[in-house]
Order: sequence, then C-alpha cells, then structure tokens
Amino acid sequence: MRSNSSKLKQHAITMPLTPSHLDKLRAQFPALARQVNGHAAAYFDGPGGTQTPQCVIDAVSHYLAHLNANHEGRFATSRESDELLDKAHRAAADFVGSDDPDTVAFGPNMTTLTMSLSRSLARTWKAGDEVIVTRLDHDANYSPWTLAAADAGAEVKVVEFSHADCTLDLEQYRSLLSDRTKLVAIGCASNAVGTLNPVKEMIQQARSVGATVFLDAVHYAPHALIDVVDWDCDFLACSAYKFFGPHVGMLWGRRELLDNLFAYKLRPAADSLPGKWMTGTQNHEGLAGALAAIDYIADLGREASGERSLGRREALVAAYSAIAQYENQLCRQLMDGLRAIDGMRIWGVDDDRRMDQRLPTLAVTHPNKNAAEIADFVGARGCFVWDGHYYAINLTEELGLEPHGMVRIGLVHYNTSDEVDRLLTALSECVG
Ligand SMILES: Cc1ncc(COP(=O)(O)O)c(C=O)c1O
Repeated sequence: MRSNSSKLKQHAITMPLTPSHLDKLRAQFPALARQVNGHAAAYFDGPGGTQTPQCVIDAVSHYLAHLNANHEGRFATSRESDELLDKAHRAAADFVGSDDPDTVAFGPNMTTLTMSLSRSLARTWKAGDEVIVTRLDHDANYSPWTLAAADAGAEVKVVEFSHADCTLDLEQYRSLLSDRTKLVAIGCASNAVGTLNPVKEMIQQARSVGATVFLDAVHYAPHALIDVVDWDCDFLACSAYKFFGPHVGMLWGRRELLDNLFAYKLRPAADSLPGKWMTGTQNHEGLAGALAAIDYIADLGREASGERSLGRREALVAAYSAIAQYENQLCRQLMDGLRAIDGMRIWGVDDDRRMDQRLPTLAVTHPNKNAAEIADFVGARGCFVWDGHYYAINLTEELGLEPHGMVRIGLVHYNTSDEVDRLLTALSECVG
C-alpha cells in the first residue's frame, strides 16, 4: 500500500459547487422529478439511502442486458462480466484510498460483511481479551462485535458520549485501551446525529496498544473522502446505496489480515483475495452500479474543479472538497432555521464554529409533536425525513428518546437551499 494522500491533497479545490453545477448534477437524478401531493419531492432521507443518478441506473441495466453471467466461464459474457467486476474492485480501491483492488470485498451490505468478519476475528480472541465499541454507533457496528465477543468469552467495553453534543468521550476511550484490547470498532460518523469522530487520533491510540481497528464508514462515505492509508485502520466497511449507488456493501481490509485470517466460505471457493471474503455469487449488476456511482462522484470532482484530466482518486479528492463546502453552507442554513423555530432541539454539535465536528445530518425533537407526527406532516408536503432510532438504538435509549426517537434530516449534495426553506416552513407549520 502506498500513501499518496499528501500529494493528492494539493489538488483539492477550494470552490464549493456553483448553482450551475448543481442544476447539472440534479438533472442526472430522475427521482428528483417526483411530485407528492403537488409538491416536488425533497429527499432529506440520504442517511437511510441516497438517490441514484442515471449513469448508475444505466450501468445496472446495461449489465443485465448485455453482460449477465456467472463468474469465470469460458465464454464472452462471463469474460466481459469478469472484466467489469475487476473494474469495480479497482474503483472501490480508489474510493477507499488503497492501490490494491484485491483488498476490497463486495457483499450484500455492510451488516452482513461485518457479521462475517466478526466471526473470523473472534476465532483469534480468548477469555480475558477485550473489544471496544461505542454507544454512538449504528447497531451494525455494535452487535456484530458484542455477539462475537460473547462467542469468544471476550469482554466488551463501551465508549460513552456526551449528552450535550453527542461527541465521544475521548478521555474515557483512552482509559479503556490496554494490552488486552483486541479490537476497536469506531464509526467515522454518526448516522443519527451527524457527529464526525476523530478517527485518525483514535486509531493511533488503538495502535499504540496493538489493537486491530475496524471503521464503519457507511454514513461518512457520501460526504467526505475515505483514506485507509492515511488513517492507518485495519478494516473499513461502507455501502454503495448510501453514496448514490445500488444496494451493495464493501469491505476493505489490510492485505496481511485478509490473507491470514480464517474466512467462513465454501470449500471450492477461492483462497486468494478478494474471492476469499466474497461468499456466494455476487450481485454483479449491483457491482456495475457501485462502479458507476464511484465514477459519478469522480466526475463531479472533475466538473467542479474544471480539471477534466484528473485521475479517479484525485477527482474523488476534488469532489469531496466541493461537496463538503456546499453541504456545509446548506447545513448552516438549516441549523439557523431550526434554531428560529421555538422549542426545536437540535441533538449533536449545534455550534457554527464546530462544523468540522459534524456532517450535515441533523436530528431534532420538539415538545409539541413526536417524531412520527412530524415526519408524516412534512412528508405529505413532499419533504422526506426519517423518524425513530435508525438503528442507532443505543444512542436514542441513552438520551431517553425512546419510543419515538428523533426526526432525522439528512442533507447531501443534491439538496438545495430552496428545499431547506420549504422544509423549515413545513416544520414551523407542524409544530407551531
Ligand atoms: C452508520 C451506519 N452503519 C451501518 C449501517 C448498516 O449498513 P447496511 O444497510 O449496508 O448493512 C448503516 C445503515 O443505515 C449506517 O447508517
């Protein structure tokens, strides 16, 4: 693995997306043309799954129409299909910042890949070993590890978070680390309240006690650049349906770990990478779509920077720089508007000076209406928000917000300032 991030970072552009970029980008998403009760649909449900651009839809249908075949056959469609799958691995490696396409395995979703990896890692644990998880995370980065720890007789330690701003208690985290720590499972960002965790710092600390680090980048991936080399993690999982692709999961791992760990797989299946970690026949059309989604983001970077010749990784760096700046503006607008609604509570970092500690995913509650009532009300006006715990069940329980949970408003780069205004008006009407 080479570390090329510092060289690439010099290419990062400093411009946000302009209105003309935005028009062009939005025109690529057929779903954005949908109407609900006479209102244009405004998708604030990105954290639950993003919409897909036409190039992704075309890639999936092109695969099914022209390449549809199983792996490693001695005929045209199978060979072409295998070539496409190789391209998908290369794109996925660029996406996570690795130059080794074989170190990315595809699978049905992040949860299934993580469950499977946890079973393999647990074979290396014994009674007295410890596993660290956080109370902030989606349950997919909690239960696989607590279940695996129970199988191995290992003990689970939980990193707590501050109720005031939903950031992790880093001092307590440090106090949990010891030479007994075998695994640290961290989310790059909270899918419920948008907290961005200081993963690089947390990984360094875990490394200093010799622990293996698993990162859940599912919520992070549509918003910011993943860099497994710079972060120095051991495993990272994400899901293409959260970054404008189809329902496919991805797991990256450090080569020596993927090579040496025992994988639960069928006997004739490959012992070599990446096949060793890809159980059963894959969703090939989904992989074609995941490849197209990564290329869509890279093209966004080329378009926004005006540098058409950027290689894919450099283009991804440029894309995420543009996306972050645009989303940041939109998030500030949303936060200002929410603060102006009497009684509305924003959970998580609620401070314009700390925007580098959050993603544009806001969870709110209001004393006049529960989360489902608010989601129903604004949904009927075409504003799609989520309600409940979104599987970050430890967090909503800890905050005493069950059974209703919170309303989650997720912004991604295809959302607009007008949509945010419409949502704020609908929310004011609902709770006013
Ligand atoms: C932060 C986070 N982790 C994990 C998952 C689970 O991902 P998947 O649906 O691919 O299993 C989700 C899904 O919402 C998520 O938001």
